[in-house]
Amino acid sequence: MTDRYAVLGNPIGHSKSPLIHSLFAQATGQDIGYTAIETPLDGFDETVLGFRAGGGRGLNVSLPFKLQAFQIATQPSERARLAGAANCLKFEGESILADNFDGVGLVNDLQRNLGCPIKGKRVLLLGAGGATRGAILPLAGQAPALLAVANRTADKAHELRRDFAGHAALQTGGYDDLTGQTFDIVINATSAGLSGDALPLPPGLFAPGAVAYDMVYGKGLTPFLRQARAAGVSTVADGVGMLVEQAAEAFAWWRGVRPETPPVIQQLTVPLA
Ligand code: ATR
Repeated sequence: MTDRYAVLGNPIGHSKSPLIHSLFAQATGQDIGYTAIETPLDGFDETVLGFRAGGGRGLNVSLPFKLQAFQIATQPSERARLAGAANCLKFEGESILADNFDGVGLVNDLQRNLGCPIKGKRVLLLGAGGATRGAILPLAGQAPALLAVANRTADKAHELRRDFAGHAALQTGGYDDLTGQTFDIVINATSAGLSGDALPLPPGLFAPGAVAYDMVYGKGLTPFLRQARAAGVSTVADGVGMLVEQAAEAFAWWRGVRPETPPVIQQLTVPLA
């Protein structure tokens, strides 16, 4: 019998997840069905429980429901707990397991696909929202020389330092605090680019050979990636690889089979410019 999965979000129309999971299923010979469900803003729990009652096996969860996905779980993973957010659910009997694969997707994309090892590097995360929360533990697990978080509202970054104390040593502050520092990997986890805004990055932020990574995908050269290019950064990437890598983690968690990611990333990649 075909096992059913879906992605929940609002809006969900442009989600690439059904395509990604159907390519994974074809490549691994797994018999699954995967759909996108536009979920009412006030109907997340109902949709999850209804999907499970109808025989569904697991869900991906997109914006704006990642906090609620964590809250509905009966068994969240430690990284979902620390992030306070989940992007993947698995149903086992009465249990709802939750995990957050966004950060590991980012780490795998940087290291495996972009050839950029994190160990010993100076890494900077821009933003202090859910996307940054999900990335901290997986990045810290790779032993960077420094993991810094800068945010427009510095207090929100400081809050992260306290929340992750004992799990990840963070340098936190506002954009002004970055003056005079250089980084090897700079990751934009803000939503600034979606509104076309550039970030107040001080000059000299990018070390020679630095990588600039924007978590958004399919938007071409975002304001952040343009800023990086203008500063002489040659390796700039959007989040398409992160999207496919987190999907591969979910697929492996659900199905026990790990799909190959490079052909799928290649299929989804839109040239940046
Ligand atoms: P997500 O869950 O996608 O991370 P979020 O929790 O709403 O979304 O967080 C959005 C992040 O983008 C925040 O760090 C926000 O900064 P503030 O905490 O100061 O609001 C950041 N952000 C959004 N628009 C921005 C802009 N124009 N310039 C700088 N940072 C911006």
